[in-house]
Amino acid sequence: MNAPATTPSATPLDPALLELVEEGLREFLAAQKLPENLRAACLHAVLAGGKRLRPILVLECARAAGASASASLPAAIAIEFVHAFSLVHDDLPALDNDALRRGKPTCHIAFGEAMAILAGDCLLALAPLAAAKSPHAAAAIQEELMRATVSMIAGQVYDTLGGFPDSLAPSARLELIHHNKTGALIEVACRMGALSAGADETTVARLATFGRATGLMFQIVDDLIDATQTAHHAGKATGKDAEAGKLTYPEIHGLDGSRREIARLEAEARAALAHFGAEASPLRSLLEYLVARTR
Ligand code: IPE
Ligand code: IPE
Ligand code: MG
Ligand code: MG
Ligand code: MG
Repeated sequence: MNAPATTPSATPLDPALLELVEEGLREFLAAQKLPENLRAACLHAVLAGGKRLRPILVLECARAAGASASASLPAAIAIEFVHAFSLVHDDLPALDNDALRRGKPTCHIAFGEAMAILAGDCLLALAPLAAAKSPHAAAAIQEELMRATVSMIAGQVYDTLGGFPDSLAPSARLELIHHNKTGALIEVACRMGALSAGADETTVARLATFGRATGLMFQIVDDLIDATQTAHHAGKATGKDAEAGKLTYPEIHGLDGSRREIARLEAEARAALAHFGAEASPLRSLLEYLVARTR
């Protein structure tokens, strides 16, 4: 609980896959022609210590579908660029106005607001370029990733500005926000892993079901972290959702109700893996870790 914010918690993520992702991100950025100030801002946003959940989901879903990691690396790199863009813009003064991310100053605090906006734009544009390098199903992977990115942006609009159909009850609004702002990218990570492995439709659908339940669960856990952890532990400001009057699971369903929903979604995600054998064991461990994480 009291470890320094920058100390990574023990995770079941395969260190070899993590290294592959770090190296892939570093190499892809190094190959881009960018002004040095923009490069520095992009490096800060991408290499400053994320958990790499989405790229690891791509690689582990490819493994569950019977493929090697290398064929899915471009898709894994691509989704982390979208994720990094989403965080840089999420932290901006006009959105969540946060100064701390992964235990470090946010991009706009370190580089100024104009550069953070432009670095986010740049990372978004790099994503389809990275996905284009997929040796298999590159066009489908690019299309699915960009569609999910549009959903993520729609989710950020619901979260920040509203715009819901009038008839929607608060709990349905909440689900809509979370499925879009966070769930869409996690689900598409699983779909892209399966697609890059050349999986059949049934396998893609099963991994997508796993991803959809995991994605919603992930944001409920994020809401709990905001409501119950210190900024020092989480590496980002906490207590912000209630302060900003955001619709969250703890707000609408309480802490216990949120935990029950997490358990229900965990069971749903686990059931989606029932037809897989040992090749999906890392996904099962990953799920357990994501349910229990506190940062
Ligand atoms: C944070 O995502 C934003 C949400 C969607 C809740 P992560 O918790 O995956 O962030 P990093 O990349 O590990 O910092
Ligand atoms: C972020 O949700 C979702 C994104 C699309 C980035 P939050 O605003 O709750 O994420 P944190 O808590 O800042 O990481
Ligand atoms: Mg936000
Ligand atoms: Mg935020
Ligand atoms: Mg949050």
